[in-house]
Amino acid sequence: TQSISEIARVKNLNRLQIGKHEVDAWYFSPYPQEYAHLPVLYLCEFCLCYFGSPFMLSRHRKRCNLMHPPGNEIYRHEDLSFFELDGKRQLTWCRNLSLLSKCFLDQDSTGCHIIGYFSKEKESADSYNVACILTLPQHQRHGYGRLLIQFSYELSKKEGKLGSPEKPLSDLGLLGYRAYWAETIIDLLLTTSDDVSIDEIAQKTSITHADVMNTWFFKHYKGQHVICIPESVQERYKKSLEKRKRRIHPEYLKWKPPV
Ligand code: ACO
Ligand code: ZN
Repeated sequence: TQSISEIARVKNLNRLQIGKHEVDAWYFSPYPQEYAHLPVLYLCEFCLCYFGSPFMLSRHRKRCNLMHPPGNEIYRHEDLSFFELDGKRQLTWCRNLSLLSKCFLDQDSTGCHIIGYFSKEKESADSYNVACILTLPQHQRHGYGRLLIQFSYELSKKEGKLGSPEKPLSDLGLLGYRAYWAETIIDLLLTTSDDVSIDEIAQKTSITHADVMNTWFFKHYKGQHVICIPESVQERYKKSLEKRKRRIHPEYLKWKPPV
């Protein structure tokens, strides 16, 4: 006999069609029973409502007039936008997003566009600036995770706070964050000529002291922690920073922390 938790974890969906993409579901997601085990679940890529057949979806698209996520567009530069949603006001959309995101996240995710998204507590007792982050599989490894992470730190800067992602991090989450922390710190060090303290790095980047410390080999020198980045690593990062097409331009961010 299977335990309830085992049953709950068995993947129940096969494939999802989102816009012109079709992808495999990775994990269990609590879509209603009648939608589970269909060969393909058809999603409206704008409202994220789900349907059992292409016919049902096309009928829906005649009525659904959404062309972007609901909520406030709080950032736009060239062809990239961010929308801020409120879980209470855009309840259905957020519910649909949670169902979709759960297909690719192994643990239960609290609260939870369509490249990806991150969720964030309005107020975090543990100074978390991200609860949960996801790039949809068809868009992974194109730098969007890095953009989402940078965006979350830009929000922390507006709040005047240091922030860190909620733990535990998934394996991919850790890889993404490690890469971001390392690049951000190297970028800062390469563009400032003076000595920089860990505290200054934290204040300028909103990355917590602990995360700054975790990224690099800090050496003790005359009773102080000294950052030591080999030339080879610097060169590698300079090259990868140069080839980054997209980054967040904070001057386009229009957002105030909730009161
Ligand atoms: N293998 C090795 N390194 C990786 C991988 C991978 N599969 N994915 C990301 N990285 C590292 C690389 O250094 C990469 O830089 P590079 O491509 O220049 O080498 C860097 O992370 C950033 O990659 P992006 O393309 O910006 O990241 P992506 O858009 O793929 O999103 C994310 C990363 C969000 C973690 C994605 O893998 C994902 O959604 N995974 C499933 C859900 C998940 O695990 N979310 C995190 C949970 S923890 C939390 O939410 C706090
Ligand atoms: Zn729709």
